[in-house]
Amino acid sequence: MSSLFVDVTLSILYYKCYGIAYNSNTMYKKKYSRKPTKTKVKLAKIGVGKRRESRKLAKIEKPLEFDLNAEKQEVLDILENTDRNIFLTGKAGTGKSEFLKHFRCTTQKNIVVLAFTGVAAVNVQGQTIHSFFKFHPQTTLESIKKLWGDKGEIYKKIHTIVIDEISMVRSDLLDCIDKFMRMNGPTPGLPFGGVQVFAIGDLYQLPPIVMNDEKELFTSVYKSPYFFDSNVYKEAGFIKKELTKVYRQDKAQNEFVRTLDNLRMCSFTNTDIDFINTRYVQNYTKPANESVISLVTTNEMANSINMGELDKLPFKQYSYPGVVTGDYKEKDLPTSKALEIKEGAQVMLLNNDAQDRWVNGDIVKVIKTTEDSVRVLFDDGSFDDIKTVSWDAIRYVLNDETKKIEPEVTGSFTQFPLKLAWAVTIHKGQGKTFDKVHIDFGRGTFAPGQAYVALSRCRTLEGMTLTTKLQPRHVFTDPRIKEFMEG
Ligand SMILES: Nc1ncnc2c1ncn2[C@@H]1O[C@H](COP(=O)(O)OP(=O)(O)O)[C@@H](O)[C@H]1O
Ligand SMILES: [Mg+2]
Repeated sequence: MSSLFVDVTLSILYYKCYGIAYNSNTMYKKKYSRKPTKTKVKLAKIGVGKRRESRKLAKIEKPLEFDLNAEKQEVLDILENTDRNIFLTGKAGTGKSEFLKHFRCTTQKNIVVLAFTGVAAVNVQGQTIHSFFKFHPQTTLESIKKLWGDKGEIYKKIHTIVIDEISMVRSDLLDCIDKFMRMNGPTPGLPFGGVQVFAIGDLYQLPPIVMNDEKELFTSVYKSPYFFDSNVYKEAGFIKKELTKVYRQDKAQNEFVRTLDNLRMCSFTNTDIDFINTRYVQNYTKPANESVISLVTTNEMANSINMGELDKLPFKQYSYPGVVTGDYKEKDLPTSKALEIKEGAQVMLLNNDAQDRWVNGDIVKVIKTTEDSVRVLFDDGSFDDIKTVSWDAIRYVLNDETKKIEPEVTGSFTQFPLKLAWAVTIHKGQGKTFDKVHIDFGRGTFAPGQAYVALSRCRTLEGMTLTTKLQPRHVFTDPRIKEFMEG
């Protein structure tokens, strides 16, 4: 068989869509050097033809040391042994995304991991929904088509579609996925084409975005923009499961966790508000030696804080050019292509260290910059030179020999795993864990769940401060959510 044939066959199978997978070469070496992993074995098998030789699979991060308690085991059993659809919910920090990583690493099923936003997709090394199904912003139910030939083959081989941060997925989008899969999935005509859907998220966190000109759709056609008000949700018969053990905050934070619960459910009292407001600091100034991240409501606020703080530093500004190869959408880059850094800058680390000295989301200070290195200072007084890492843009492809769906690398981005982090929006902070947080609600929250997302990012109450006092009006949820969750 000529390599040309293989080339052509594969290029027909490969479709133009991207997701992101983080990949640190050092981490890979440490964790995988002794024993070949499944990924390596798969790579070895795909060794025919020119195109195949250059084919590279994304290295999937292992979950944290996993505590598989009864509630998680039950969900895992349903996922692995049945084709029932599941909606897995749970408060912020109950380890939903970690559980997803565990499932991905242990399942025998052919799965794809998707999320609505690029940020949420990066968080779980997945692909965005739009890119996986080749949807455009203008895609509607009417515009979805059946794919013919090899183009549609991958969709017929899926066993499970995993969607993280489902609270951000709109009802009309879930119906689009359903229609697409009814047309292109393994069992045409059945909900999601007969494929299992594992939806993960917390509805009491940030909701889907609805533009002004789209609002009518959610009064005339749909009861609400939430995924559970899609037509397919009822028909597909989802089992609702909840994780209850909070990991982000530890046991000593009982009262904080209880207060967060009340704020999440909007069943708070003045005592809860007062408890949070014990962290209010008048005329707050950031402590010089601590890495505190500000959570703010708007992009403008975050950018202006970051740029303002960078400007203030009296040191030379370095601009590190990131390198993009292949296909990697600019808007999905985890940090700036040209990274502007100065000594003294507060930055967020965007990878997990091979030696467990830091994890994605840790905030540190830059203490030295040269043409090709950045030294950062950790909170415990230690420091290290940060090396560049590569992130992979992935697309799921079908291995035509094994019929397994694999995350193939379509492009890569190499840059220091750093991002200016004096401030970040609450929206971008969803899904993240921080040690020290300063919250500025500015002119107030504007989305249901926004206050809860901000307040639940920090591991401890003591690690959090507030510029503006929390007011009852900052904390609200949509009555439709309560109705669904309690129904
Ligand atoms: N099984 C686990 N064992 C130990 N710590 C965990 C576990 N699951 C989650 N965590 C901790 O809790 C934090 C939040 O977990 P995550 O999966 O992001 O929660 P969620 O997606 O439910 O908000 C993680 O960063 C990690 O520190
Ligand atoms: Mg999560």
